[in-house]
Amino acid sequence: MAMSDQASSPSAGLTVSHLSLAFGGLKALSDVSFSVAPGSITAVIGPNGAGKTSLFNCISGFYRPSAGAIEFDGSDISKFHPPARAKIGLARTFQNIALFRGMTVLDNIKLGRHAHMRTNVFDALWYFGRARREELELRSEI
Ligand SMILES: Nc1ncnc2c1ncn2[C@@H]1O[C@H](COP(=O)(O)OP(=O)(O)OP(=O)(O)O)[C@@H](O)[C@H]1O
Ligand SMILES: [Mg+2]
Repeated sequence: MAMSDQASSPSAGLTVSHLSLAFGGLKALSDVSFSVAPGSITAVIGPNGAGKTSLFNCISGFYRPSAGAIEFDGSDISKFHPPARAKIGLARTFQNIALFRGMTVLDNIKLGRHAHMRTNVFDALWYFGRARREELELRSEI
């Protein structure tokens, strides 16, 4: 994949600059740059094997690109591990559905919010105070 809707200057939103990724001799991403403004919707299209999933894997931190940078809301997140990216608000879904079997739809959705909750394990055990409050707020958002 080689996209170059040249990234604008770093700001709010997502900015991908000159991203490259290779698997051995296979270039999955070659100098990919684009930006996504807050509140906008951007689609990435391309044939099978074009590198779409590889791009999302780089943005969410599952793959480490060989070159380039990723900025989110003005911070360079290129070195952040996936949970740190989730904590600052980057979320993704998977091409092959990745749900927890045996958990309800509600619990699967709630799991995505987990990184943002302040309840610790002890609060949760007693389900009191902040734990209860956060749980009720979360359910009302869903
Ligand atoms: N972990 C990996 N190891 C080796 N090669 C990989 C790996 N992941 C992706 N590739 C290769 O990188 C290229 C891009 O694959 P990718 O899955 O990103 O394409 P895609 O655009 O998501 O395709 P599709 O439309 O089929 O989902 C392909 O040639 C693929 O075989
Ligand atoms: Mg894919």
